[in-house]
Amino acid sequence: MTPVPRQRILSGIQPTNHITIGNYLGALKNWVALQDRFDCYFAVVDLHAIVTGRQGLTDNTYYALATYLAAGINPERCCLFAQSQVSQHAELAWLLNCYTYMGELQRMTQFKDKSSKAGRNIPAGLFNYPVLMAADILLYQANLVPVGEDQRQHLELTRTLAQRLNKTMAKPLFIVPDAYIPKVGARIMDLRNPKIKMSKSNPSPEGVLYLHDSKDSIAQKIRRATTDSDTEIRYDLEQKAGVSNLLAMQAAISGKAIADLEAGYQGQNYGRLKADCIEVVSAEVLQLQQRITALLADRPYLQSIMNKGAEQARAVAQKTLAAVNSAIGFVSPCADDKKDIS
Ligand code: TRP
Repeated sequence: MTPVPRQRILSGIQPTNHITIGNYLGALKNWVALQDRFDCYFAVVDLHAIVTGRQGLTDNTYYALATYLAAGINPERCCLFAQSQVSQHAELAWLLNCYTYMGELQRMTQFKDKSSKAGRNIPAGLFNYPVLMAADILLYQANLVPVGEDQRQHLELTRTLAQRLNKTMAKPLFIVPDAYIPKVGARIMDLRNPKIKMSKSNPSPEGVLYLHDSKDSIAQKIRRATTDSDTEIRYDLEQKAGVSNLLAMQAAISGKAIADLEAGYQGQNYGRLKADCIEVVSAEVLQLQQRITALLADRPYLQSIMNKGAEQARAVAQKTLAAVNSAIGFVSPCADDKKDIS
């Protein structure tokens, strides 16, 4: 009996030295859990990162890779690579651009949001960003794409493009991927404004916990986190967003159920909740920081992982790209050379 091939997963985060505890708990920690069940490809999406500038790009790429590893992603089981080392991403992105409509990209809420803040010179890369993301996913024939809610629209576009090319070329060139938004995954919110997602682009840095934050800074940010004027410690996203966020963070790190945490806080005050949260978060961050520092001290090791990952990724990506090139009708150089000789 032939074994059923495992479903494939692809995801990526941009290299930045501002990885937040939200990225870690909401994305990376989930990826670690997925690696046993799926055939996983995790990219450091450096081509995406230059849309907003290339400051610190090299260091940030190593930092992102070190963070993946420190979080527990196993390079023996997953393909870890830097997007720019696999040239097929840029190539497929161009091809997909020719099948994407301006209107579709203009409708992207992330483009509308970011371009409105970009001033007079909006890079065309910001506009085309979702097409490159579609290329990332489609090249690997990924079945599932773990992303946050904010990327759902980009994934919809990816599906539309996959279907459009499959239809136009009358060939099943691409698998149509599904978003994988885990139901129980932690969605960590801003500490100051717990109604918005914790993100490095939030207005106040005070509401955002970074993996590079010091213990003091973590303690200060959590101590000042917005709660409410009530006293009850209960998980209720509508009425008690701040308190719920502190519970969610603790639950995601400790692995305890929210209900158990709630039960343990009967009769306790917010001071207790915050003190526990500070302890749990800073212990986790400290451990990660130590691992990241050790990994960053060994660049040749990180390079070897990227090399191996890129090699593996290229082989898969080239197969898809070659099929697309041929379906479009580009003349394949080898085939014609042979004809000339005979
Ligand atoms: N756009 C994603 C983000 O900002 C990052 C990303 C790029 C990505 N390519 C991807 C995520 C492919 C999943 C799959 O979060």
